[in-house]
Parts: sequence; structure tokens; C-alpha cells
Amino acid sequence: MNDPLIGATLVAREDLAKRVQELGEEISHDYAGREIVLVGVLKGAVFFVADLMRHLEVHCSIDFMAVASYGSSTDSSGVVRILKDLDISIEGKDVLIIEDIVDSGLTLNYLLRTLRARNPASLEVCALLTKPDRRKVDLPIRYVGFEIPNEFAIGYGLDHEERYRNLPYVAALTDGS
Ligand code: IMP
Ligand code: MG
Repeated sequence: MNDPLIGATLVAREDLAKRVQELGEEISHDYAGREIVLVGVLKGAVFFVADLMRHLEVHCSIDFMAVASYGSSTDSSGVVRILKDLDISIEGKDVLIIEDIVDSGLTLNYLLRTLRARNPASLEVCALLTKPDRRKVDLPIRYVGFEIPNEFAIGYGLDHEERYRNLPYVAALTDGS
């Protein structure tokens, strides 16, 4: 795609594929003999969860939540509203939240508190990307794909104003100059 807003590659297509496979193997090993409920956070995690699930060798189901953070588009406020809740009950289940990116951590912090209150047997997080420099709350992220620098990332599900989710790799958004 020829677009001046698409900047340097942060994670190449083949590195995504390789890491997603590794995460799938690690999760399959850790959950051997158990069944996982994958909770994908819409919309950014859709590509990641679909690819990851194909590398899982344990029984698993998938459900989705959509949340919106109040505040500006580049800084989340930590006040989160549920736009779409889970269809299935997670009580007594082994739940794995699948996130595209953890930035300040405020959205994930809210999700963890909300889902923990529903008494799952276990609750863990798998995030494709994290920006450690931006973290405002310390969170237990069990599985991380890649740590990236403090840049706005697009592609492989990540958007800027709903665009660029279809890029098959992760790039930095530029200011267009
Ligand atoms: P947090 O609450 O600050 O951790 O932000 C979480 C949400 O903001 C993520 O689930 C993304 O949807 C969005 N977000 C944060 N950083 C980026 C980015 O670099 N690119 C695209 N979306 C982002
Ligand atoms: Mg998002």
C-alpha cells in the first residue's frame, strides 16, 4: 500500500508468524489437558487471536469483548465502558485474554478486574505487543509477543482511525511529512 503515513516496519510479517506459532506452542504446553476460553478484545486482536488459535493443540473456545476507553484517542483515561460483553459464562473456566497491544495498561487493568469478578478458574493475558515505557499500571502479562518502542503502531489488526488493520505486518505511523 502506498501511503505516506505508513512508516518503518516495527515487526515484519515473518517474525509475526514465527512468534505467534511459538506462543501457540507455549500456551498448548502450559494448558495441556485443560480447555481454554480465549477472550479476544475487539477489534484489534481479531487477526492475532485467529492466527494464534490455529496453533493451539488443546480444546479451546473463543468469545469477544468490545470496550471503549473514555478520553483522547491517543491516551486512555482508564475509565472503560463495555460495548459488547461475552456471550458465554466464564465461571470455573480457564480464561486467556487476547490483546493486540498494551500501552498504559489501563484498559487491560479494567478488563482483568471485571473478568476476575466472574470467578474464572484462572485468568491470564496474552498480548501481541507491549510498550513498556508507557505503562501506568503494573500488570501480570503471562505471554508477550514483542516489546516495541514508544511509537504508534498500525497493522495486523491495529488501526489509526479504523484504517491499516489489513497491513500484514506492524509499522509505525508517521506524521506524513
Ligand atoms: P491502554 O489502555 O493505554 O493500554 O490502551 C489500550 C488500547 O489502546 C489498545 O487495546 C489499543 O486498541 C489502543 N492502542 C494503544 N496503543 C496503540 C498503538 O500504538 N496503535 C494502535 N492502537 C493502540
Ligand atoms: Mg483497541
